[in-house]
Amino acid sequence: MKKLGLNEIRQKFLDFFESKDHYIRHSYSLIPEKDKSLLLINAGMAPLKPYFMGVETPPRSRMATCQKCIRTGDIDNVGHTARHATFFEMLGNFSFGDYFKKESITWGWEFVTEHLNIPVDKLWVTIYEEDEEAFEIWKNHIGIDPLRIVRLGKEDNFWEIGIGPCGPCSEIYFDRGEKYGCNDPDCKPGCDCDRYVEFWNHVFTQFNKDEKGRYTPLPNPNIDTGMGLERIACILQEVDSIFEVDTVSYILNGVAEKADVKYASDNADQNISIRIITDHIRSVAFLVCDGILPSNEGRGYVLRRLLRRAARHGKLIGINGSFLAELSSRVIEVSKEAYPELENRKEYIEKIISIEEDRFHETIDQGTNILNEFMDDLKSYSQTILSGEKAFKLYDTFGFPLELTEEILKENDFTVNIEDFNRYMENQKNMSRSAQKSETGVGWEENIQLDLEHINKTQFTGYDQLTDESAVLFILNNNSPVNSAKAGDKVRIILDKTPFYAESGGQIGDKGRLFNEDCEIEVFSCEKTKELYVHDCIIKRGAIEKEDKVTSEVHRDSRYATARNHTATHILHKALKDILGQHVEQSGSLVTDERLRFDFTHFENISGGDLKKIEEKVNEIIYNSLPVNVEESELKKAIEKGATALFGEKYGSKVRIVKIGEYSMELCGGTHVHDSGQIGVFKILSENGIAAGVRRIEAITGQNVYRYLIQMDDMLNNIHEIMKSNTNNVIQKIQNLNDDYKSCRKELETLKNKLMKGSLEDIFNHKININGINLIRHKFVNTDIKDLRSMTDDIKQKINKAVVVFASVNEDKVIFLVSVTEDLLDKVHAGKMIKDIAAVAGGGGGGKADMAQAGGKDPSKTDEALALSEKILKNITI
Ligand code: ALA
Repeated sequence: MKKLGLNEIRQKFLDFFESKDHYIRHSYSLIPEKDKSLLLINAGMAPLKPYFMGVETPPRSRMATCQKCIRTGDIDNVGHTARHATFFEMLGNFSFGDYFKKESITWGWEFVTEHLNIPVDKLWVTIYEEDEEAFEIWKNHIGIDPLRIVRLGKEDNFWEIGIGPCGPCSEIYFDRGEKYGCNDPDCKPGCDCDRYVEFWNHVFTQFNKDEKGRYTPLPNPNIDTGMGLERIACILQEVDSIFEVDTVSYILNGVAEKADVKYASDNADQNISIRIITDHIRSVAFLVCDGILPSNEGRGYVLRRLLRRAARHGKLIGINGSFLAELSSRVIEVSKEAYPELENRKEYIEKIISIEEDRFHETIDQGTNILNEFMDDLKSYSQTILSGEKAFKLYDTFGFPLELTEEILKENDFTVNIEDFNRYMENQKNMSRSAQKSETGVGWEENIQLDLEHINKTQFTGYDQLTDESAVLFILNNNSPVNSAKAGDKVRIILDKTPFYAESGGQIGDKGRLFNEDCEIEVFSCEKTKELYVHDCIIKRGAIEKEDKVTSEVHRDSRYATARNHTATHILHKALKDILGQHVEQSGSLVTDERLRFDFTHFENISGGDLKKIEEKVNEIIYNSLPVNVEESELKKAIEKGATALFGEKYGSKVRIVKIGEYSMELCGGTHVHDSGQIGVFKILSENGIAAGVRRIEAITGQNVYRYLIQMDDMLNNIHEIMKSNTNNVIQKIQNLNDDYKSCRKELETLKNKLMKGSLEDIFNHKININGINLIRHKFVNTDIKDLRSMTDDIKQKINKAVVVFASVNEDKVIFLVSVTEDLLDKVHAGKMIKDIAAVAGGGGGGKADMAQAGGKDPSKTDEALALSEKILKNITI
């Protein structure tokens, strides 16, 4: 057996399959493209699902990859075992209707025995119990001893993960030797002990599983194999744990060094923490690299949870302050050969990690204190389950992932009411969902999607023309397919060809109309599902039937306004890079006919000066009237030419390059003006931060700027009218008014003070003596608490042994203030006294011994409440 480094094994695998005529594809992003069933890529085949299902055509019918994968299902085991990890790489070779079992098994065996040189006597295989074909290949074609071919049931040898392509499989096992075994004479692959490790799964993908659990045969039988890179490295490097594999242990050593502790010491908890951090930082660095930002939802939440968990374990092993950004450089160093994107985004990755980690440290102490209090409470009531509400509060206010709360609770023998927590979570989600739901958004029902698979993909003709003659292929009314629709119906229509741009790449779908002699249909949006363009319509006049011919006409002004905003977005993107730096990356964009919104990575506030420069630069490119040219190219060539490709975006092998003179070159499928001069003018309306390291600019162009100017002009005219001013003196007049206002306010304060002093004298003189205590009470009207407080302070300066009880009423409420001089503090407690007083007026409150305030809902009870103070003092003896 050859002792190979992890990076070497990867390369050997890819070279081997290249020699077998496979297309070697760089790992796909961790963000699944168009696959709502999956949060993160979790297997080599996951990004290839459309090829397996025959929905899209693969670049070649044989492919091989080394795919970065994340699985968080077993996160609780990570660090506690030798083989669990959230991040791993999967080597895989794939056939899309090309070769099948025989080649897959033969090449698998050849690679393992001749290229990795694993001795045959260390190898075993398993097959699905009913798969005679696989048995025959292993036995007769490869020549394996039939005793070493183990038949296992569906649970072990039928591969499926969620929904999608699946099928029976055959796995290759490595025998680690008797010392790892259970001593059962019958021990063999499938046994629960540690002797046999499965390392290469060959799936004979024959079925597609849908969300209802139905299996339907795929158009072609395929091959999907998966070999965990870390696991095969363990075998070849003869180590017991993935954390001892060369590249992984390099990261692990970084953790131990930082904490200044020794790994693999007697301290089991410490070893677990070191392993958790090692694993999680790998996931974190790769997630950030693929454009995921920490958030409280979806992928962003997975990232936040992993990062915060790693940060907390850092604390547990004695690392002070933030360290994960620094540690991520080790991940980059050992993986950059296969993933150059890590090196290219190094600065960005470190920045995002350190922002999130710093943020976490700010809240973790606070949150931990609160959780400690919760645990104390539980203890004192002899309870063991923390309520979902409290766990949710920690999550919502202090950014404590539920799992972190659970982990800390578990360490202290508590649990949490998860159902309850989920209810709070669901509630919050519903609230934000209903806030977002758009009026026209009608979801696709799954069964309709299946029907749509039989329709030819729409031909888009709208780059060069705004009208076309189209045929109606499909009509949906209320999500049900129909043959016809009539005036008043809200329908969705699919045509054979269309000039309507379908919403994508941040650009909204076109508006416009479909018409013929018999009908007039308004199109208020267009979206794409798979490669079909779906027009959201309302029938204004007449009726429409399937197969009718219509003229399709895009709303010209709206299209042009959108194009102006889209081209301006590209110019803005470049200007931001020029002025703020190359770290600026687009992280989101919305282009409509009214405005553009551009989200990008940048780590500090943008100064007013820079914002002006950015706006000026965009306008300069506009006034220079640069030609906008579009060309098609191979993706690789486009990147070589230096075209900007977007973060995390998946492009086909053919791409469209949009060039604005020599200034900007971006890959883009959107619609643009022909000349930058057509944009007219560009105006930024707002700039602000929307998440850690992400900022947003909103801007308008062309006619919308003109409309904006008119609005501003009208507003200014209104101001002139009110101020009796003109453009020359308006600022001065407003300034004067402001000065006048300030001095009037001052004067008013002085008068109020004088008045108050006068009435204070009066109030003071009305003090009564109860058992040697001076009680001063008064009811004010519309006096704010600040003034009440300053009056009580004045009184307390003048007199000893005094209790001041003030109330101030307005229309529907009353406020109370009780204040006690120091020499009475052992007799009278302001906080307790006010509780009883406020209760009379339907209120509550409390406070300290010397000063307390409270509110009441019933001002009519104020006198009664004040009178109570007398009674309370009568019961006190001095
Ligand atoms: N898709 C198969 C797996 O992940 C190869 O094991």
